[in-house]
This record gives sequence, structure tokens and C-alpha cells, in this order.
Amino acid sequence: MNHILKNKRALITGGSRGIGAAIVKRLASEGADVAFTYTSSPDRANEIVQAVQALGVQALAIHADSADAREVVAAVEDTVNKLGSIDILVNNAGVLAIGPIDDFTLADFDRTFAINVRAVFVATQAAVKHMKEGGRIINIGSTNAERMPFAGGGVYAMSKSALQGLVQGLSRDLGPRGITINNVQPGPIATDMNPSEGEFAEILKKQIAVARYGTVDEVAGLVAYLAGPESGYITGANLMIDGGFSA
Ligand SMILES: NC(=O)c1ccc[n+]([C@@H]2O[C@H](COP(=O)([O-])OP(=O)(O)OC[C@H]3O[C@@H](n4cnc5c(N)ncnc54)[C@H](OP(=O)(O)O)[C@@H]3O)[C@@H](O)[C@H]2O)c1
Repeated sequence: MNHILKNKRALITGGSRGIGAAIVKRLASEGADVAFTYTSSPDRANEIVQAVQALGVQALAIHADSADAREVVAAVEDTVNKLGSIDILVNNAGVLAIGPIDDFTLADFDRTFAINVRAVFVATQAAVKHMKEGGRIINIGSTNAERMPFAGGGVYAMSKSALQGLVQGLSRDLGPRGITINNVQPGPIATDMNPSEGEFAEILKKQIAVARYGTVDEVAGLVAYLAGPESGYITGANLMIDGGFSA
């Protein structure tokens, strides 16, 4: 295999399960040393570390809650100290709180924004202090930034729309430094957050042009491309990977 990320160091937030775990493994299979954060799944995190080390690269699992800005900064510093620097940041950790406007709590609002938005800014700010030319920042947004076809998802959709403004603005800060920043916006992807079987899944499938959920590996493939050397002219972009959900 052509290891397009050899000698690169990556941090992925929320890498113990789902889309994040697939990204950790894919970037490692491309030759990158990888660090990733988790909160509640130490056993899963340990399994990922073992799987990645078997690929012959360094792996580091960091317990860090994205809701806490200090822990996010510490995770970036830990990555730099233990892997030597940081070339790729993937802001993947995210939460989905769904509820009708009449009942939606401020606590859920604040937690959604702390994890889905503030942590992305905080990690990016900490990482770019160390990133050199060729650096890559990739956020996992959502197709719901542009289309939210069911009730109760307004705050989640708003948190993902906020990332669009962030990457568009920060691309101007970081472009002259040779660092790109983009959003990958998945549609329904089979994970613990969004199981591909069940009543809700059947409703969603009817709205997807290709009539199926996407896989975590399909998202990881796009992230690997954006992390690699051929994507240097893509920045400030919101890239949909949603099977035509928003078409
Ligand atoms: N699945 C979809 O259909 C879909 C579609 C569009 C966008 N997305 C986005 O894709 C991203 C990943 O989603 P997913 O479906 O893979 O979710 P998931 O299956 O629920 O996995 C979430 C991952 O994030 C970690 N995490 C959760 N809260 C965290 C926190 N406060 N601090 C640090 N890590 C935290 C979890 O760690 P622990 O294992 O330790 O809990 C886990 O590794 C999210 O940003 C989500 O909004 C998902």
C-alpha cells in the first residue's frame, strides 16, 4: 500500500467508536501515528490502540471530555508531547440531543454546543499553534446543517450549521499558512448514534437517494483523502457524503 500519511501525526476526537474509530484505523493504515480521545469506553479505546499498533504505527488513547475546554487543550498538548507534533486534527466527537421545542432543556442546548461547536474551536486553536504548512483540519459536521427533515433536531442542526461558518471563516486565517480546514457532512451512517435498523431508520432510508445507510468506512475514506497530500486546494468547504439525502 502507498502510505500517503507516513510521518504524519493525527489527533481524532471521539475515536473509540463509530465514525471516529473508523477514521483512526484508516489514517493509521495510511501510515499516520494517531492519538484519539474518548470518554466512556476505555475497553473499546484499548482495542483500537491494539489494532492500530498492529499496523506498525504509534497509537495513543487519551481520556478527554470534549465538553471541558481544558481537557480538549490538554489532549492536543498530550498528542504533541507524545507523538512529536500534530499535522492532522479531526474534530469528530459529537452528541445528538433530540426533543421538541417545548421540552428542550438549556442543559441539553449547552452540552450540544460545548461538544459539537466550542470543542471544535478550542481544539483547532490549540492545534494550529503547532501545525506547519500542509496541516489539515477536518470537522465531522452533518447533512443536517443544510437539511433537517424531522422535528426535534433544531439544536443539533444549528450546531452543525455553526461549523459551516467556522470553516469558511477560518479558511481565511489558515490559508496563508498552508493549512486547510473543511467539514465532512455525513448523512445517515450506521453507528450507535444512528442504528441502521428500526422504525426511525426506515423513515430515513426513504429519503436517501441510494436507499441505504452509509458506512463508517465510506466516511473515513473521504477524511483520509482530505488529510492527504492531494487535497491542498480544498479549504473552507462543506463536503456532503450523504447518499443523496440532501439532493
Ligand atoms: N451516525 C450518523 O448518522 C452521523 C451523521 C452525521 C454526522 N454524524 C456525526 O459524526 C460524529 C460521530 O458520530 P457517531 O455516529 O460515530 O457517534 P457515536 O457512535 O455515538 O460515537 C461517538 C464517539 O464520540 C465520543 N464522544 C462522545 N461524547 C464525547 C465527549 N464529550 N468527549 C469526547 N468524546 C466523546 C464517543 O466516545 P465514548 O466511546 O468514550 O463514549 C465515541 O467515540 C458526530 O460528530 C456526529 O454528530 C453522525
